[in-house]
Amino acid sequence: MAKYEIIGGTPLEGSVTISGAKNAAVAILPAALLVEGVCRVENVPDISDVRILLEILRDMGVRIQEEGPGVLRLDATHITNRCPNPELVRKMRASYYLMGALLSRFHQADVALPGGCNFASRPIDQHVKGFAALGADVEETDDYVYLREGPDGLHGSRITLDVVSVGATINIIMAACLLPGQTIIYNAAREPHIVDLANFLNTMGARISGAGTEVVKIWGVERLRGGSYAIIPDQIEAGTYLAAVAAVGGNVLVQNVIPKHMDCITSKLQEMGVSIINYDDAIRIRSTGKLHHTTVKTRPYPGFPTDMQAQICVCMTLASGISRLTENVYETRFFGYCTELQSMGANILITGKTATVTGTKQLKGATVCAHDLRAGAALIIAGLAAQGTTVVENIHFVERGYERLVEKLTALGANIRRIDD
Ligand code: EPZ
Repeated sequence: MAKYEIIGGTPLEGSVTISGAKNAAVAILPAALLVEGVCRVENVPDISDVRILLEILRDMGVRIQEEGPGVLRLDATHITNRCPNPELVRKMRASYYLMGALLSRFHQADVALPGGCNFASRPIDQHVKGFAALGADVEETDDYVYLREGPDGLHGSRITLDVVSVGATINIIMAACLLPGQTIIYNAAREPHIVDLANFLNTMGARISGAGTEVVKIWGVERLRGGSYAIIPDQIEAGTYLAAVAAVGGNVLVQNVIPKHMDCITSKLQEMGVSIINYDDAIRIRSTGKLHHTTVKTRPYPGFPTDMQAQICVCMTLASGISRLTENVYETRFFGYCTELQSMGANILITGKTATVTGTKQLKGATVCAHDLRAGAALIIAGLAAQGTTVVENIHFVERGYERLVEKLTALGANIRRIDD
């Protein structure tokens, strides 16, 4: 397994360009299955989750050409295999979007249950609830979901989600796109990548309104044609670099961002003492590395994102005073990285959903192990800030979601290198 070796202590200076949003790309690429025509998609991040999805789509008969860096042309007019390769499906979480796309286009789907980061139990009962409401017969086994058109056919419906679920919101939007009638999703998630998917589908001829609010309406259409679309910048990648500068110190211009998407993250970092300047499509962050304690409660968007929990926790371990971090989306997420941070000298006490973090002057380099994507990113930030050398193992998790991470950090002056075992 590959690892990163990091020699900490160097402030980060210069500029970094944020890639296309992972969680938008892994929804938009399966959505291409809905389109009988050519979709030209720009700003596709070159990360392992995207590479796996493209392999799945090619295996199904989608014609995919790379027009340039991050620019793909996908043509799903002729699908030759409607059963996505289960070995590949099990390698990531977002492969479950294939269910909604196949149900909408072909009125059936046989898709293996997804894999992905296992920092918590990640059920799909709300996805299933949506498919059933749309008239599908759903059969679930230990490792597969089988969807068929029910006796009354597939049709629009009204669905109230029991929990605010990004995945279920996206899957139901995809499933409803080509079904007759109107679908309304209540208690929908509002994340930027949901809006991005809806904008992509509307560009291809879908009729979706309300994405980004808690009520999303979809009027089914006969067919979707081709078109061009550019994926939004990655809110969490950008937040990760901001947290790195906050923890290590430095002066960095983070380019290709949508500042509005970052509000909750930047306002928290400002509370901790960093300077933030928002431009139209960039953010400048300055930090002395001396941070004040704060309190964070993760929430669905527009709240503080759970995917930034680990990264802000590292900042808290170095902040003066006592910080409190409450996780309201995935209660067990702390266990993916807190023990590792404690081995670097962090003072973290976990009680139920809350971590109490007492700041320390310095973290010490150590050999640590990534257990999931964002936990790995947090350990890299800790290594950049720590005194001495840190080795982060299992960095394949990290490379699922961060494009050219070593290259981007090196350009900011970080001392980091990848070691292949
Ligand atoms: C998406 O996961 C993201 N993944 C996650 O990012 C992110 O942490 C999460 O949304 C929350 O923002 C992708 O977009 C590929 P949810 P998802 O459905 O859709 C419960 C990363 O680091 N729930 O919004 O799986 C669930 O247990 C990854 O990029 C049900 O109970 O998350 C959780 O407590 C990690 N039943 C809450 O809802 C369901 O059917 C939110 O989950 C679905 C979810």
